[in-house]
Amino acid sequence: MINKMSVPKAELHCHIEGAAPPSLVVRLADKYQVDVSSIINGNGKYVWSDFTSFLQAYDLASSVFKTPADYALLSETYFRMLSAEGAIYGEIFISPDHAQAAGLSYRSYVEGLAAGIGRAKEETGIEGRMIAIGVRHFGAASVERVAKEVIGNPHPMVTGFGLAGDEREGHPANFAKAFRMAGEAGLGLTAHAGEFGGPNSIVAALEFLRVKRLGHGVRAIEDKELVKRLVDESVVLEVCPGSNLALGVYSVLRFHPINLLRRAGVRVTLNSDDPPFFHTTLGKEYASVSKTFGWSFEDQMEITRNAIAAAFCDHATKQRLL
Ligand code: ADE
Ligand code: ZN
Repeated sequence: MINKMSVPKAELHCHIEGAAPPSLVVRLADKYQVDVSSIINGNGKYVWSDFTSFLQAYDLASSVFKTPADYALLSETYFRMLSAEGAIYGEIFISPDHAQAAGLSYRSYVEGLAAGIGRAKEETGIEGRMIAIGVRHFGAASVERVAKEVIGNPHPMVTGFGLAGDEREGHPANFAKAFRMAGEAGLGLTAHAGEFGGPNSIVAALEFLRVKRLGHGVRAIEDKELVKRLVDESVVLEVCPGSNLALGVYSVLRFHPINLLRRAGVRVTLNSDDPPFFHTTLGKEYASVSKTFGWSFEDQMEITRNAIAAAFCDHATKQRLL
């Protein structure tokens, strides 16, 4: 049930392993005897210092999820928290490579996550979908393997395919084949670009991966022509302001380009990316951005409508949501 004073929210960009509360990671680390003291401090907070060490902390936190039940608990926890903040819809990035490293098959991983999403939906009504991602810095062969695995094991809740990881490595052309296969299989497509890479990285993602959604994409602001192209081609940005601040892409929120992009006509959405790593939540993103840029309730509704319109779910579900 939506609180009338709170804007209904929708999230398109959250990495499920990156949403793991440190308390849950510590609990499972104790159970499986994994040492996580290098990434979780005495105050129960994640510690990392730059993008590379963040990715390493993410890998270690992921390694404590070893069974379908562990993953069910993780997705249920995340979707319940999202619903408690007034969200009606969420898409999570899932990483078959991380599950495999922890000893779990793709099917078991997806079934575990789906069970948790189902339980959260039963309790709260929140709707969820999954986007399987390949990890850019693991290379083209690994990303293609993920695409084949997803296509060969269809699941009604896995409706998208994406690319995450270190944007500073590997050209989008290397991943064109994986994205072509995923697109032909009917999956929605999105790729991280314009976070640590500039406009050229975004242009290459649009050209080679044929995506209509971009993870971040905010550095398009550095190129006027590119901003116009995003508007003309109705490209939707999965903007994660708190993540950008935490990772040092921008120094303070008032210098973040989300408001300029929106005013230029780009379709933007708000997202939490890896919430406890960046000390954020979807609710905090809506609140801090609205306060900084003076967005009204109606402005925030537009953000949610942008997200639902761009969501990788069927038309009937979209209509039911808003
Ligand atoms: N994986 C998890 N979080 C990420 C981010 N912010 N950028 C790229 N890959 C990621
Ligand atoms: Zn991300």
